[in-house]
Amino acid sequence: MKIPSTPPVRLFIVLALVLSALGALGAPIKIGFLVKQPEEPWFQLEWKFADKAAKDLGFTLVKIGATDGEKVLSAIDNLAAGGAQGFVICTPDTRLGPGIVAKANGANLKVIAVDDQFLGAGGKPMAKVHYLGISAGKIGEEVGKTLAAEMKKRGWTAADTAVCAVTFEEVATIKERTDGAIAALTAAGFPKEKIFKAAERTNDIPGAFDAVNVLLTQKSGMKHWLVCGGNDSAVLGAVRALEGSGFAADSCVGVGINGTDCITELEKAKLTSFYGSMLLSAKAHGYQTAEMMFHWIKDGKEPPLDSRTVGVLITRENFQQVLKDQGIR
Ligand code: GLA
Repeated sequence: MKIPSTPPVRLFIVLALVLSALGALGAPIKIGFLVKQPEEPWFQLEWKFADKAAKDLGFTLVKIGATDGEKVLSAIDNLAAGGAQGFVICTPDTRLGPGIVAKANGANLKVIAVDDQFLGAGGKPMAKVHYLGISAGKIGEEVGKTLAAEMKKRGWTAADTAVCAVTFEEVATIKERTDGAIAALTAAGFPKEKIFKAAERTNDIPGAFDAVNVLLTQKSGMKHWLVCGGNDSAVLGAVRALEGSGFAADSCVGVGINGTDCITELEKAKLTSFYGSMLLSAKAHGYQTAEMMFHWIKDGKEPPLDSRTVGVLITRENFQQVLKDQGIR
């Protein structure tokens, strides 16, 4: 092609050629990954696997610790200003759902909720927002069944045993887990009146520790405790509180959920009451959500609206091997 010689026309044509070449290549893809508790191993692993997806597929990942509503909203503004096209989020408060969706729509950003499903009007799950979470009820039931089996194995009776369920009912996926554990224990014949809930103010180790200390002062005189909770932190906090009240590994059994936040506990030389955990797939939650977002942006391939992942029991016996198989260790 012969480019005309007048300088402004020439400049204009060259610029147009450069811009159309860039357009053909497509804008670089940038995806945000916001998590509610960046200090927890579970969320660090989600980030690690999302980073791996970014490397494999060739996009930029922006990791943001969004611990409250204000941080979420300003993070969305920053992502939009920085040229991102979408984000994956585990929200610090599920009731922020409608606000997050409105803000994302306004900024033309796609959203995938991970772990904690958004709640909309009347506290109902926002089923139209793409979500990847766990099969919470089923995984909770596995916890309950494991506790019932361990109680039997140890020869404890319902007369000398109580259940401590560390609850955080504000978050649906957490409530479904503890409800599932309680349902399985009851189905195994454990008396309802010996199942006690310890409600956390915050869903972390200190929150569980405080809640269980309160329960233990109210229910003194128990010989054995079975412990379930929404995740590893809940059960770890409970185990620490029980130890503080003189309950050692031979008098309690705790089973967590996540399997990622209890690794140092399972590695301890001294046996503790933390028996095991339902290991979830941090890889599916981190890699797969980032990958789904990438293809949604790049090829317009919409992800499934609702995906659920499963869990597998890890104990001191098998955790090294299972973690290795899953690429965590
Ligand atoms: C919630 C919990 C996390 C983890 C995820 C798994 O967000 O707070 O600890 O269990 O669910 O989806």
